[in-house]
Amino acid sequence: MTQELVNGFKEKNVFQPAENYKKEVLVTHSETYRNRQERLSFWEERASTLSWFKKWDTVLEWNPPFAKWFEGGKLNASYNCLDRHLESSRRDKAAIIFEGEHGDSFVLTYSQLHREVCKFANVLKSLGVKKGEVVTIYMPMVPETVIAMLACARIGAPHSVVFGGFSAEALGNRIKDAGSKVLITSDGAFRRGKVLPIKENVCAALKSVQGIEKVVIVKHTETEVEIIENRDFWYHNLMKEASSDCSAEELDAEDRLFILYTSGTTGKPKGVVHTIGGYLTGVATTHQFIFDLKEDDIYWCTADLGWITGHSYLVYGPLANGTTILLFEGTPDYPKKDRFWEIIEKHKVTILYTAPTVIRTFMKWGSSYPEKRDLSSLRLLGTVGEPINPEAWKWFYKHIGNEKCPIVDTWWQTETGMIMLSPLSGVTSLKPGSCAVPFPGVKVEILNRLGQPVKKGEIGFVAITEPWPAMLRTLHRDDNRYQDTYWGKWPGKYFTGDGAKLDEDGYFWIIGRVDDVINVSGHRIGTAELENVLEEHPSVAEAACIGKTHEVKGQAIAAFVILKEGFARSEQLVNELKNYIAVKIGTIARPEDLYLTEELPKTRSGKIIRRILRDIAEGRTIGDTTTLADSAAVETLQKLNVS
Ligand code: WTA
Repeated sequence: MTQELVNGFKEKNVFQPAENYKKEVLVTHSETYRNRQERLSFWEERASTLSWFKKWDTVLEWNPPFAKWFEGGKLNASYNCLDRHLESSRRDKAAIIFEGEHGDSFVLTYSQLHREVCKFANVLKSLGVKKGEVVTIYMPMVPETVIAMLACARIGAPHSVVFGGFSAEALGNRIKDAGSKVLITSDGAFRRGKVLPIKENVCAALKSVQGIEKVVIVKHTETEVEIIENRDFWYHNLMKEASSDCSAEELDAEDRLFILYTSGTTGKPKGVVHTIGGYLTGVATTHQFIFDLKEDDIYWCTADLGWITGHSYLVYGPLANGTTILLFEGTPDYPKKDRFWEIIEKHKVTILYTAPTVIRTFMKWGSSYPEKRDLSSLRLLGTVGEPINPEAWKWFYKHIGNEKCPIVDTWWQTETGMIMLSPLSGVTSLKPGSCAVPFPGVKVEILNRLGQPVKKGEIGFVAITEPWPAMLRTLHRDDNRYQDTYWGKWPGKYFTGDGAKLDEDGYFWIIGRVDDVINVSGHRIGTAELENVLEEHPSVAEAACIGKTHEVKGQAIAAFVILKEGFARSEQLVNELKNYIAVKIGTIARPEDLYLTEELPKTRSGKIIRRILRDIAEGRTIGDTTTLADSAAVETLQKLNVS
């Protein structure tokens, strides 16, 4: 590491932790822990900062691939997120600042949130929900979603939150797989001034799916909805009668906290299972350390509650730490493209945790929007979900962080439950585009096919080679798939599906999913690497690259590019962009095809679905599109008529 660098970017693109971030930290990096025993002691010490009804007997029981953390211990996640804060001055501290799409906002203090959760836990009991029964939640970004999650946690009923933007069919499949009897939903959701028909989707889903006996509906948009007697109940009516007295169940550390469905390589979604003790230890610790949490922070994670980031870093981690969270219902461009910056100014947000795709969108819109707002309250920025290109990192750093906020690029997965790779803001020097190093107590390595560590600079598979507390325990009702998908490649080592390389300082550079690595004439080229280069070009707003089958080269590169406003499409520009890559990486990386497009197919969490681009580039019929955010994007791409 170049030590003489102090602040800002120098030739090596290294950013040292700002002076005001340097502090006494408990640990620096995973290297601090050289063996399993030391790691376990660290996690044991971290677990003891939670409130337990009964202490655990063993820290870890590891029968690969099945792990049990804190066996014998008893605790409750809702108690840890609420009750324990009521004994201190946090009682009247804001737990949730809600910002509605229309600019309406209100606060729920910890004691108010506790009261609502207790009442709703009693409602769930009155509907017959028993410990261990999965409750499905299909809701917009409103406080009642958090209340419902914590109420489930309080009585030991695992929740399965299904993203509110999913279709009726996707919802139905998840309800069926989870075997839920109770569903929590709302009449509708606001989206860019329109109302999305949440309850209508529920009705459609329930026409073909058996098993749901009770539906609770939160009145939010005042949309008229169909009510089926004895099945559908209004939330506010049930809450009126409910008692606010509900003690938290004493649950086993290894009882399930939730199931969260995520897409896999096959069409069938995987129900990732997380349990209470280890998960809570992992998310509370990472949230506190990585975001360098302070008591008066106003913390805003922009992820939807329907994704793992919403679970771990909007609900369980922050609330276990007694943080004030900002919950925003709307979108970045409604009513205007400065909505995020308006919110930061209004609520004096100190920490912003968002996704690279969002940052690139802001870049496309230009810096005039954030410039008009006061963002001086911000002190730390974070990203998650995909590799961030250095270009976007620097834009975020300069235009949002005003060159004073460290950026934590956090790598993790639904399955890992918690952040695994990240800088620690007061300790680690930052390199734009790298998610730095493993979190303390976590062991991540880059391995080749045979499971041996690769040399620095070589691309390999990201593997987690020691169990960690927030790890998934299995896939819902599918131990075999769990074993095959994650542990089948190398016994006892977790296969992440990502490719990466280590630089000379031991920093991780994630290339993307391993199936996103293109092999051109035996040379491996990461799609992220290609995209980063394209995105450095002044005309490019966003790019996605894939490998298409090529007779001679094995694979050839096809690039899909969205231009910034003000740039006209032309054959000349296409050639310029192709050559730009050839110059930046080498002629081997010159794309065979380069298409200028207006849309890219993305999941609702903003990830580009390369499978669809590959289908388009190779003229195949499009596969499953249920995870798409915008099916219009596919149509636009199909119009390109490539074959
Ligand atoms: C990708 C989201 C690069 C990665 C929390 C991983 C990232 C997948 C990063 C998991 C990052 C997530 N840099 N890539 N900082 N964070 N990814 O399950 O490919 O929705 O395997 O979890 O996102 O996506 P998931």
